[in-house]
Amino acid sequence: MTVTDLPKVELHLHLEGGAPPQFIAGLAKEKKLDISGIFKPDGSYDYRDFWHFLEVYEAATSTLQSPDDYKRLTLAVLEESAKNGVIYTESFISPDFCGGRDVGAWREYLAAIREAAEEAERTMGITMRGVVTCIRHFGPEKAKETALCAAETAGDWLTGFGMAGDEKKGKPADFAYAFDMAREAGLGITVHAGEWGGAASVRDALDALRPSRIGHGVHAIEDLALVDRLAEDEVVLEVCPGSNVFLGVYPSLARHPIAELRKRGVKVTVSTDDPPFFHTTMKSEYDRLSETFEWEEDDFRDLARIAANAAFCDEATRTRVLKKLEPADV
Ligand code: ADE
Ligand code: ZN
Repeated sequence: MTVTDLPKVELHLHLEGGAPPQFIAGLAKEKKLDISGIFKPDGSYDYRDFWHFLEVYEAATSTLQSPDDYKRLTLAVLEESAKNGVIYTESFISPDFCGGRDVGAWREYLAAIREAAEEAERTMGITMRGVVTCIRHFGPEKAKETALCAAETAGDWLTGFGMAGDEKKGKPADFAYAFDMAREAGLGITVHAGEWGGAASVRDALDALRPSRIGHGVHAIEDLALVDRLAEDEVVLEVCPGSNVFLGVYPSLARHPIAELRKRGVKVTVSTDDPPFFHTTMKSEYDRLSETFEWEEDDFRDLARIAANAAFCDEATRTRVLKKLEPADV
């Protein structure tokens, strides 16, 4: 077996970010929306840099207008994940895009997404859990409304709360109220930090929001005391190497700090972030990591175990996932 065939656990996948461009183009055609500007002539997504990516992402998402659109999206995304050997995935879902942060509408979107997840579990053997995500550049007031949607629907399927968006906007402390509400509802906490911001941004997120996981977190490497803190406190990093290289956070995978962070004892995991936007898949992440850092089967099994242990799911699900990660005894 090659490492790309190993069973995988993905903790950092934006649901709309997993939308194949053809899927979004098809929805736009059905609804007679002109979003042709977001595609290149070859049909892939077209954007200049991260900030333009966020705009293109939101334009693509504007074609998703009903619970049924999200059901179809979820099935398409999970099909691609399952094809890549992902057995458990946590996906970021935003009430901002699903019903405009209205709790009643959000419940309908969530029910449709869950229905798709249950169908995918039956037919493709992939387990999904949802992490409600507020969008940093939409501001703290909207984040509170988002947290209320999350708190009202927290349970065995909707298991986490996070924050994505433009890390350069606002301070983590501005979002403390929203995160406290989510924590009190029993949700696991993750925050995007240290993708575009430096080590101080990671530190601020840890101090203000007390996440058990950080989305990206890679710029922590600039401050070795912070790296030690992450290792000691067992904060798990949801590292997305392909995303970081594609967006120019690092010039190449060889210059990416994932291996160094791991060597220094930080619990790192591997995810795709927004795979069609960054021309990546979980198989390709594994392939490139094994080629660049000479990681082998044991390294990848270890990464997947760390991810399963950091997942925001119930213990019975975790045990089931961990079991599937072990080599079959033949
Ligand atoms: N939303 C979708 N992908 C994102 C990323 N990589 N960083 C921040 N927000 C995002
Ligand atoms: Zn992300």
